[in-house]
Amino acid sequence: MRLLWKPIALAALVVRAQNTPRRPAAREYDTHNYYIVEHDVQPGASIHDVAKTLGVEVVEPLGELDDHWVVRTPKLNGDLEARGFDPVLDAYHSLRDVALSGDGLEARSGQDLEFSKRLYNSIAFLERQELELREKRAPPPIKPPPKSAAIVKEFNIEDPYFPRQWHLVNDEYPENMMNVTGLWAEGITGKGVLSGLIDDGLDYTSEDLAANFDAKNSYDFNDHEALPTPKKERDHHGTRCAGQIAAVKNRACGIGIAYESKVSGIRILSGRITTADEAIALNYGFQDVHLYSCSWGPRDDGTKMQGPSYIIRKAVLNGINKGRGGKGSVFVFASGNGAHHGDQCNFDGYTNSIYSVTVGSVDYKGLHPKYSEACAAVMVVAYSSGSGNHIVTTDRGKNGCATNHGGTSAAAPNAAGVIALALSVRPDLTWRDVQHLCVQTARQINPHDSDWSKMASGKYYSNKYGFGVLDGWSYVQAAKTWKLVKPQAWVETPTIQISNGTMDEHKEFEGGDFIDDGGVSSTILITKEMLAQNNFEKLEHVTVRVWIDHTRRGDVEVYLESPNGIRSVLAKPRERDNAKTGFPGWEFMSVKHWGENPVGSWRIHISDQELEAEEGYFLGWNMQLWGESIDPAKAKLYEINKHDDLLPPFRNGTITPARPVIPPHVGDPAPTETHTTLHGKPTDNLPHGSTTPPPPGWLSDLSKAKQNWLMGVVAVIILLNFAGAIYYCRKHFGLWGDDPAAAYNALPGGETMPMANITGGRREGQGTGRRLYDVVEEEEGADGALAARGPPAASAAQRTGNAPGRSTGGLGFHSGFLDDDDPLTAAPTAGVAGGARYRDDDGLPPRTAQPVTASAVKVSEPAASPEESSASSEDGNLWEDARAK
Ligand SMILES: *[C@@H]1O[C@H](CO)[C@@H](O)[C@H](O)[C@H]1NC(C)=O
Ligand SMILES: *[C@@H]1O[C@H](CO)[C@@H](O)[C@H](O)[C@H]1NC(C)=O
Ligand SMILES: *[C@@H]1O[C@H](CO)[C@@H](O)[C@H](O)[C@H]1NC(C)=O
Repeated sequence: MRLLWKPIALAALVVRAQNTPRRPAAREYDTHNYYIVEHDVQPGASIHDVAKTLGVEVVEPLGELDDHWVVRTPKLNGDLEARGFDPVLDAYHSLRDVALSGDGLEARSGQDLEFSKRLYNSIAFLERQELELREKRAPPPIKPPPKSAAIVKEFNIEDPYFPRQWHLVNDEYPENMMNVTGLWAEGITGKGVLSGLIDDGLDYTSEDLAANFDAKNSYDFNDHEALPTPKKERDHHGTRCAGQIAAVKNRACGIGIAYESKVSGIRILSGRITTADEAIALNYGFQDVHLYSCSWGPRDDGTKMQGPSYIIRKAVLNGINKGRGGKGSVFVFASGNGAHHGDQCNFDGYTNSIYSVTVGSVDYKGLHPKYSEACAAVMVVAYSSGSGNHIVTTDRGKNGCATNHGGTSAAAPNAAGVIALALSVRPDLTWRDVQHLCVQTARQINPHDSDWSKMASGKYYSNKYGFGVLDGWSYVQAAKTWKLVKPQAWVETPTIQISNGTMDEHKEFEGGDFIDDGGVSSTILITKEMLAQNNFEKLEHVTVRVWIDHTRRGDVEVYLESPNGIRSVLAKPRERDNAKTGFPGWEFMSVKHWGENPVGSWRIHISDQELEAEEGYFLGWNMQLWGESIDPAKAKLYEINKHDDLLPPFRNGTITPARPVIPPHVGDPAPTETHTTLHGKPTDNLPHGSTTPPPPGWLSDLSKAKQNWLMGVVAVIILLNFAGAIYYCRKHFGLWGDDPAAAYNALPGGETMPMANITGGRREGQGTGRRLYDVVEEEEGADGALAARGPPAASAAQRTGNAPGRSTGGLGFHSGFLDDDDPLTAAPTAGVAGGARYRDDDGLPPRTAQPVTASAVKVSEPAASPEESSASSEDGNLWEDARAK
């Protein structure tokens, strides 16, 4: 057969070769939308079947590509079109839903299902064609972009590594840089502003930092010394972050964004730290320190849901209410580096706090690096590593220079540097003005990324990019004339208890509605009267507290829909999250409703993956709207309520409900909506696969039998109460309770964990209200550890079980997970269909760094070239610290 076919095929080729190229049919872009379909003939559906299903007309084959077709469909009426509705992609998504539903849920018969599967599998690729795309991506430059050489001349720059600091001047992609040199030209260099680097130390002996170092507002909370001297091998993170903000313009390494501003070092990440010390650190020098740059948080491995404990939250709020003479400390937080582990920053209570400016990354090509965590709490993105390029900044040592800094760890200080510049011209900006300016001036990037959606205010928002990339120039220009916002006001809604849902202080759930197929919804009505009563004028943040009991937390999806139909995705499935502790009063945050009129009915929708083995209950929720007050004279300062996470919440430790409890209002018919835009379902590939890290020592992750056993052991130890037993306990477990009155806290020298964990007991849980914390595991990165969102180092370290920078304590480093060169990542594209794969990386060869002659300069280079790291990104050793010895 083959032998017969070959000559024919060859003949066809010959004939074709002699033909002139096929002329494409004339395009009618004004009236039609065009798409590419890659047709897989194997499953047996013809291109005409495919076209019929998608509702398109086949135009012609796509040039010389076999089985690729150009198809088209008439444009919709202007309004639908303008709102981005795409019937073809919609049809594709419906087809996918049916084909993947497996159980024929949406298929009318088995035959339909079979055919749908064939059709679905026949569409190997589908992509809408965008004319505008190319035009927008390469706008004609209004004026020639600044070149680093010109800048070097203009500012007399002698820092040898300045030309490699592409985040300051990007010669290759001039639109992708922090864009601050124009501000320097105006003399705006950060004078008078002090940034506190809450980190692992700060090398004040560095020539690049010494002149800008503020010793008075520095402290070492790990070793309890006056100066934040980096001591451990990996204590270079804080120094690098500080260099990004305030490296001196001199002959060492490079330049900071606000190179005449000051930095102080607040060392907490190099060892164990108590809640008390962390709370002190977050307010350290808070009358002098304008902003705190925080590139750390709970580990970003997609299994944790952790937030700051009561005391830490109080410290943060204290900084907001009293810091900077009442204008509020500015907390800049890195969004986290766990996106490729399915982690989302709404599972991190530091980044989803309304008090944080949460910063994700974009890389030097303007692409979304796959490590950078997305969520509805992301405010902006700033430039950092990705596509094989890193951030060049000061390093430890007299004349150290790192060329391998990155992760969201490096994005946050870049944002902090810009904010420092703004505060140098407008020191009167409050913490909320700083956020408003982000909202107002962030620049939309990759506008065709399907993650963008229009907000009620007309702005666009993306969970990946927030309001867009922070542009130094635009930010500071807007800051110059910014009219200060009025003080904050808030509206707390009543708490909805669903089917008598309750959760007590032992995190035991009772009642609630079963989350059945299609999920459950509930609504809360916000009235004009509620706003007026609360002196509330304009909406900024929305927080939503939920009580959900579930046998597998990673299965749960949560979204919030505003009265104007704007949808905030609060939780997407997390493949690695096997926790059985549900969402015990967990608070989500969204900035996607900023500026929206909140009056009307808000709907929350909870669903899961509809797996046989896993199930859950929705027990209750409430919302807080945060925004601007009507009458500043009536404004109050917010106070944290200790028992907000109980259901129903209590005030003042009494059993008086703080909020009116109103009857359930559940079951709005919205059953099938859950499957639309969110990621595909994790089906059989449940976690604990080979790539999943060893389960941390959480009680909640242990089997019930083991739990009982452990509890038994603990009970025996307590009952005996031998000093030796206590010693053993202290040595091998960290013990603490949420309630300060819990007996465990009385243990001598109590090494309390830095953060209370929000995860709690199970429905059938032991109800002890206390937890075991296996510090034996901590070198592996135990729960409760705060991790620096730093560049690369630790993935290797974790693998080898030797994590030098991660201290012996509760706070520490962790992997930056920076194998960002993996080509297949979620990324910008126009109208991406499920089958359409695309790359963040645009495929261009990685930028090669210009050789810089730097005689006496100590430099850390990435240990491998980008190509190598791409090829072997599994090998964490590539990211080992290569600091010159
Ligand atoms: C960057 O700054 C320059 C001034 O130096 C300004 O003209 C330009 O518009 C800024 N770029 C963007 C994208 O805002
Ligand atoms: C909730 O509790 C009330 C009062 O105890 C009871 O009347 C009602 O039936 C309960 N509702 C549900 C759904 O269990
Ligand atoms: C809490 O207690 C204080 C002091 O007893 C009281 O002034 C305050 O009003 C109480 N707050 C609430 C919400 O009950």
